[in-house]
Amino acid sequence: MINNKTIEKFREIETPFYYYDLDVLRSTLDVVKKESENSGYKVHYAVKANSNPRILKIISSYGFGADCVSWNEIAAAIKAGFSPSEIVFAGVGKTDKDIGAALKEDIFCFNCESLQEIEVIDQLASKQKKTARIALRINPYIEAHTHKYITTGIEESKFGINTWELEEVIKRLPSLKNIRLIGMHFHIGSQITRMSVFKSLCARINELQIWFSSRSIDLKIINVGGGFGIDYENPDKSPLFEDYFSLLNEFIDLLPGQTLHMEPGRSIIGQCGSLISRVLFIKNGSNTLFAIIDAGMTDLIRPALYQAHHKIENLTSAGNIYRYDVVGPVCESSDTFAKHIELPETRRGDIIAIRSAGAYGEAMASRYNLRDLPPSVFSDDL
Ligand code: LLP
Repeated sequence: MINNKTIEKFREIETPFYYYDLDVLRSTLDVVKKESENSGYKVHYAVKANSNPRILKIISSYGFGADCVSWNEIAAAIKAGFSPSEIVFAGVGKTDKDIGAALKEDIFCFNCESLQEIEVIDQLASKQKKTARIALRINPYIEAHTHKYITTGIEESKFGINTWELEEVIKRLPSLKNIRLIGMHFHIGSQITRMSVFKSLCARINELQIWFSSRSIDLKIINVGGGFGIDYENPDKSPLFEDYFSLLNEFIDLLPGQTLHMEPGRSIIGQCGSLISRVLFIKNGSNTLFAIIDAGMTDLIRPALYQAHHKIENLTSAGNIYRYDVVGPVCESSDTFAKHIELPETRRGDIIAIRSAGAYGEAMASRYNLRDLPPSVFSDDL
């Protein structure tokens, strides 16, 4: 809920901007901390979801680790207070430069996606006389039932090592002297709302545990990745972490000495952020009323890229209800936030909130059309 006092403050601020409700963020982090401590699980926040320095600082203060996909993310995480010894480095195309820098920092683990990548990490580690800890990102062939662009765990996806390649990887490892295999890693997609998908992942992990044990390979880390979804229809509802953790507790058979790791992004940061915008013009089409706002796809690309639904609220009108297409100013028809949605009568100057935009909003903003990047405003500062 964005309360009236906050809305009054918004009237004085130039739009568009990202607004972060830090009370929502902190209460989400409190739940994740409690649940993860109770279960003995290790959380690595997926920095790609939102790498705003102030957000990173708050998340690191809870003692979580970080999941990064580039050296720049690793550097930002370290600057914000995350310890290198709790940083995992994922990604299907890590560059030599990024791998070298991560090795220098002695990060906790590289989540590796191919044998060739492992060989390169071995060579680079040997140059620095270091041993790189790695986990194998395994493709578990599970349909995530989410948007196809954010489904990663099916066959012929560029992500992960196929199970039929595992034997070859395992055979090669003993000759790679600067590599130490410590775990398996998975990530089957994002915005997963069907809990049965995570159950299938647990079952697959249990099978793979048997496969590794039968070859006397001792793995300390089981990393289930991220993917736990949020309710975009109800932006004031926080994700039910209790359900997610108890499902993992119930369905994953950890072996003695193993720790479960996870990499939540969206579920931590999604609901605390809104993109705040002003209505520039109302335009009549032949059958449509267009509300043209000053935020565009450059500020929040998710609707244009994934046909994603974000709840839109007019914070400054309580008039009769009409149907609008809410569109941005960018010269692309895909610069549309929503079609035919009901809003109270909307006029030039009204303030619009696009909710649940904390994850993959600011982080994916661009300067297309030479637009400014959206600034961020924090509830603590209002
Ligand atoms: N771990 C790995 C290896 C990942 O690739 C991702 C996200 C995560 C963790 C965090 O997943 P989360 O808990 O946030 O679902 N831009 C898209 C989402 C792309 C997700 C990419 N990987 C969107 O706006 O929906």
